[in-house]
Amino acid sequence: MNHPAEIASRGRILTGHRPTGPRHIGHLVGTLENWVRLQDSYDCFFLVADLHVLTTDHEHPARIAANILEMVADWLAAGIDPARSTLVLQSALPEHPYLMALLGMLVTVARLERVPTYKEQAQQLGLTPSLGLLSYPILQAADILIYKAATVPVGEDQLPHVELAREMARRFNQTYGDTFPEPEALVSRLPRLPGVDNRTMHASYGNTILLKDTPEETTRKVMDMYTDPTRVHATDPGHVENNPLFNYLDAFDTDREAVEQFKARYRAGKVGDVEVKRHLAQVLNGYLAPLRQRRVTFMARPDDLRDLLRSGTQRAEGLAQATLAEVQKKMGLG
Ligand code: TRP
Repeated sequence: MNHPAEIASRGRILTGHRPTGPRHIGHLVGTLENWVRLQDSYDCFFLVADLHVLTTDHEHPARIAANILEMVADWLAAGIDPARSTLVLQSALPEHPYLMALLGMLVTVARLERVPTYKEQAQQLGLTPSLGLLSYPILQAADILIYKAATVPVGEDQLPHVELAREMARRFNQTYGDTFPEPEALVSRLPRLPGVDNRTMHASYGNTILLKDTPEETTRKVMDMYTDPTRVHATDPGHVENNPLFNYLDAFDTDREAVEQFKARYRAGKVGDVEVKRHLAQVLNGYLAPLRQRRVTFMARPDDLRDLLRSGTQRAEGLAQATLAEVQKKMGLG
């Protein structure tokens, strides 16, 4: 483990998720394992972006608190370490939406309407977009800039938001003098794990494997997985490309040689789907077992989870207050 001073000198990371529910294996390999590694070299802030949830769903208030606990338990089980990193509850720090309001003075409505996620979301939800949805990326810019974060690890879909945060930093600095570093996106190069039906993995499609699933649920989902549709009999030559069975083996089976053997036999029509699925179920359950055990321990003590989140948020508060005070002063307030 690195010395805390050394970690701090390498710069600050801010990233986060909306607490929309328990995390799935796509989050684990695409995002969480990367966050866990980054803790070794950066001063990491992980944000529970509960205000952002309301931009697309403000009619189910009862869900939010439960989803926050589920998500934080998954983060910790995956290896997020609250002794080294700071967990922040967005809605507990009014500095975030306050900075959003101030940054809002520096951006046009037309610019926000051009953010690609805005139109996509509005279309997908079949809603007339709210002011809250339009200002989603300004709130995200505020999340990043309030901690003067230098690096923002995100998926590709979030790049337009980081780009806007960079613009906001530049515009603020030009007008009021050097204040914010221009945050850099750090995009994971790993291929995205497909859902068990080979579409994008997403809770709304019901095609996820959750970190909290039991081994039995996991096995059942694996046994029902989409494979190569061109293959009718086990003796037909199969395709391992664009076949989630093999995407998953590539992601989770540490025995590379075994994976290559399965691929060769599959291509040659020498192994059936069922045998590969049985192997995958075993591999996946083995991979997830220690994580699931930790998760059960965390979920059994929800008060401890809340305390961790509270103390992280307290640690963040001082920084957020200092930045906001600086910004208010530069903008002629207070
Ligand atoms: N918009 C991000 C997502 O949906 C969550 C988020 C909110 C975020 N604030 C952030 C990510 C700041 C990175 C930095 O995944």
